[in-house]
Formats: sequence, structure tokens, C-alpha cells
Amino acid sequence: MNETRHVLITGGAGYIGSLLASELLRLGHRVTVLDALLFGGESLVPFLSHPNFRFVKADVTGPRALRDALRGQPAADAVVHLAAIVGFPACQALGRQAAWRYNVEATQRVFEQAAGLGVERFVFSSTYSNYGLSPDGAPVTEESPLNPQSLYAETKIAAEEYLLSQQDASCAPLIFRFATLYGISPRTRFDLIVNQFVLEAYTKRALIIYQRGYSRSFVHVRDVVHGIMLGLDAPVETVRGQVYNLGTNAGNLSKDEIVGLVLKRLPETVVTYKDLTFGGDMRDITVSFEKVREALGFEASLSVDDGVREVLYALQSGLIRNPQDGRYRNARFIVQ
Ligand SMILES: NC(=O)c1ccc[n+]([C@@H]2O[C@H](COP(=O)([O-])OP(=O)(O)OC[C@H]3O[C@@H](n4cnc5c(N)ncnc54)[C@H](O)[C@@H]3O)[C@@H](O)[C@H]2O)c1
Repeated sequence: MNETRHVLITGGAGYIGSLLASELLRLGHRVTVLDALLFGGESLVPFLSHPNFRFVKADVTGPRALRDALRGQPAADAVVHLAAIVGFPACQALGRQAAWRYNVEATQRVFEQAAGLGVERFVFSSTYSNYGLSPDGAPVTEESPLNPQSLYAETKIAAEEYLLSQQDASCAPLIFRFATLYGISPRTRFDLIVNQFVLEAYTKRALIIYQRGYSRSFVHVRDVVHGIMLGLDAPVETVRGQVYNLGTNAGNLSKDEIVGLVLKRLPETVVTYKDLTFGGDMRDITVSFEKVREALGFEASLSVDDGVREVLYALQSGLIRNPQDGRYRNARFIVQ
């Protein structure tokens, strides 16, 4: 961003948010993080003494959470709404009503408060899970029909629909549908497939693969932060009411290709294939990222191979000492 801005990040202690906060501060912006600290707050400790940083512990479902967080503070220019119950297993564990309250109603509340406070833009973090499967094997675009296979995707679609109905509001909504993330951040997650595979291969020398043929789309957490920054930087009328898939064509990979990248660095790993389905969030999908490239000039700078190397280094070097700790995962199991 060219001028100094004030960005409020809900869920800013999380995997994406903590890295986004760090990047905004590095570029001289003011950051307020609003987070309920479901997985702890160590990710924010390095910023505590930063003069442009402020942390507010609060739940975004509170009717005045944003207003209270910003009381007496300089006006916020943008809200990046990341707080959510993230992923199919976590939503399923909480149940429909709670998932809806946290992911849909909270989004409405946060958006209404942002608009009431004169915030110029609202960035929403959605997911390519909304597409479900690629119907005919062709890459899905932002125009493709949505076909949610999980409660998580249903809540994200409902939140998107609400925001798109508000596109003429004073506050401009902008929606990113992220690919599946990987890589290291101040709050690394090991319940995401690439990170999880590296962890399993490194600690157990073994990988169990379900549904080997499935393809997914992957993007590095630092590239996602870069994409969000582009969304904050673009002229507001360019992004108002827009939906962008955020990822890279090179990140469209099959599970076998991911396993191949892990084996390249950990060749002693024993791989076992099982053909079970979880009946949850299965996706066989290829995603087009042309729109975000053309509209915002987004180019990913990191590959899954870079991510595998980075995660392995964090484990081997002891930078992440106890990766099995609950703070590194949102639910007890992952869906490959
Ligand atoms: N990581 C991915 O692969 C991925 C992919 C697509 C979309 N997304 C979306 O991006 C966003 C961020 O994901 P992430 O991977 O950083 O998740 P994360 O779980 O690491 O971070 C979410 C943060 O939100 C906070 N939070 C949750 N509910 C809250 C509430 N009610 N009030 C206040 N704080 C609350 C948590 O404490 C946590 O710090 C989510 O909305 C997620 O759905 C993530």
C-alpha cells in the first residue's frame, strides 16, 4: 500500500492473519488485531512493543466487537475478516448452528459495523472448497457453479452471498477464494495437507494416503498475504463486489504429485495407499487463477516444493519443537 493505512484484522492471531499483520507493520501501516485466541496468541508476541500494533481480545460474534475495538483509535481504512471456524472437520465438530453463527452471522455483524464506522473496504476470506468438484475436469473460474460438499463450504457461500448483496454499500466487499495453504507462518498449521505430509514423513517415516488420485489446488501462505495486500492496494472501485480465486495454476496438483515432492526430500518414507473416502470435503478440482492475475497483477512467488523444503527445515532445525501440540491444528484430524 502506498499511503499509511490502518487495517483491522479479525482472526489476526491465526495462520494467515499473523503473517499479514507482520507484513503490514513492516511496510509502516497501523494494525489492530481482534482475535479470541482459540489457538493461543504466541504468534503476536513479537509485535507487542510495536507502536503501530494493537491487540484486542474479543469474539467477533459480539454485536459491538469492532466498535469497541476501534473506540478511541484512528479510523480503520480496511477490515480483513479472517476469524472463522476453519475447515470441514472443525465445522463438523461444532455443529451446524454454531458454524453458522461463527462463519455467517459473525461476517454480517462485522461487515455492518465496518460500514457503520466508515471503513472503505472489507476483505473476506473464502475458499475454493465452494466449487466442490470440477464438473467436467475443466478448471473452475469465479463464474463456475458452486457445489459445496461440506458444512464449512456452505457457511462460506452463505457469507459470500450476504456480502455480494451489499456491494453498493459505503464499505466495498471483496472476496478471495483461497486455495489450500501450506508453508510456515507465526502460527503454522499442521492440519493442512502439505504441511501434514511433511510432518508425518519426517516424524514417522511413513505416509498413509487416502484417495491418491484426487487433485487439489495449493498456495503458499506468504503468497496469500501478498494477494491480500494487492486487494488492499487496488483502487476500491476495481475490487468492489469482486470474487477472486487466489492461488496459482502451478499449484494445481494431484495428491500423488505432492507425495512425490515429499519423497524427493524424504526418500526413505514408506507410503501406503488406502481407498477410503471421508464423505466430507472431497474435491477433485483444478482452479483457474487468471482473473486475479489480470485484475490485480498477482503472481505467486513460491512453489509447493519451496513449501516442503521450508516446513522440513523448520522441523529439522528445531524451530518448531513440538509440532504435535494442539496449537498447530484446528481439529484433531485432517481431511486429505
Ligand atoms: N488455511 C487455508 O488453507 C484456508 C483456505 C481457504 C480459506 N481460508 C480462510 O482464511 C481464514 C483464516 O484461515 P487460517 O488458516 O489463518 O485460520 P486460523 O484458524 O489459523 O485463524 C483463525 C483465527 O481466528 C480466530 N477466531 C476464530 N473464531 C473467532 C471468533 N469468533 N472471534 C474472534 N476470533 C476468532 C482464531 O482464534 C484464529 O486465531 C479463515 O476464514 C479460513 O476459512 C483458509
